[in-house]
Amino acid sequence: MSDSYFPISLHSLRIASIPPFDLFLVHKPASPPVLYRNKDLEFTEEVLEKLRQNDVQNLYVPRHQREDYFSYSSKMVSQTVKDPSVTVERKTRVVYDTTSTIMEDLFVSPRSNVRIQQAKETINDAIELMTNDEEATRKMMFLTCHDYYTYTHSVNVTIFATALMQRVLPHIGGEHDYKVIGEGFLLHDIGKSAIPPAVINKPGKLDEEEWRLMRRHPQIGQEILNSTRHGDPIIDSIVLQHHEKMNGKGYPHGLKSEEIHPYARICALADVFDAITTVRSYRDPLPTAEALRIMRDEMEDHFDWDYFNEFVKLFGDLNE
Ligand SMILES: [Fe+2]
Ligand SMILES: [Fe+2]
Repeated sequence: MSDSYFPISLHSLRIASIPPFDLFLVHKPASPPVLYRNKDLEFTEEVLEKLRQNDVQNLYVPRHQREDYFSYSSKMVSQTVKDPSVTVERKTRVVYDTTSTIMEDLFVSPRSNVRIQQAKETINDAIELMTNDEEATRKMMFLTCHDYYTYTHSVNVTIFATALMQRVLPHIGGEHDYKVIGEGFLLHDIGKSAIPPAVINKPGKLDEEEWRLMRRHPQIGQEILNSTRHGDPIIDSIVLQHHEKMNGKGYPHGLKSEEIHPYARICALADVFDAITTVRSYRDPLPTAEALRIMRDEMEDHFDWDYFNEFVKLFGDLNE
């Protein structure tokens, strides 16, 4: 695939909207994209149907039109979530796919104020959807991608952590701004943008130098966000503390139990769960029950135990 195009999900195109970018199709793997529809033409139900009949999952947009695509798609998410005629199923799919595409680009350009803003807006729409509709939360949990990419991991963690925070935070005193907390979940690994993919995807153990680098991603993430307009103490607490463990053996600061912010404790559970239930090139994913068992039996002093019990219930609910 030529670098001059990037893939977009069909779901990010809204019926009756007028996409301000050209749409390309790839007919055969490894063949170059061909123009399918010029920009500024209405995207209709008929066009969508035709693409579906031909089993098209992705279209391609020229990279030089990416700003047009991202500003269009984040607006479309917001309209779709608020549209009572759209099914919850479709809303969750649109939110998931669009946020993933925005995050994929953000990991390439992590200091882009515009892209961070778009990521925040789409995740705010996702949080609104999930907090107003329990069905949406369940559907989002089912949707989570089982292949491991840092950008889908970011979206998956946000979904699991948001589901958990809705159970846990009402019992903790004080005000909780779900939307800003959700932004923190989404951006928790933004510091990994500075770590070479060969280290992130390395099968087996990291050597000392690689591990030293990997352990810096929370601080790098905080530094990246604070170099943009998007620094925020709530987001910082999640970005910085999501690898701290209740027993004090986490990083970067070895904080213990109550020293770790509750939002970061929530994120830590969702983070490990997603990491072990997704496929990496070097191992198969664990099924949900097995993942929860390992977290309970082998990582017992890593997590907040009360939060873990609530986390397990989330999946009990799912099977009801
Ligand atoms: Fe992380
Ligand atoms: Fe993570």
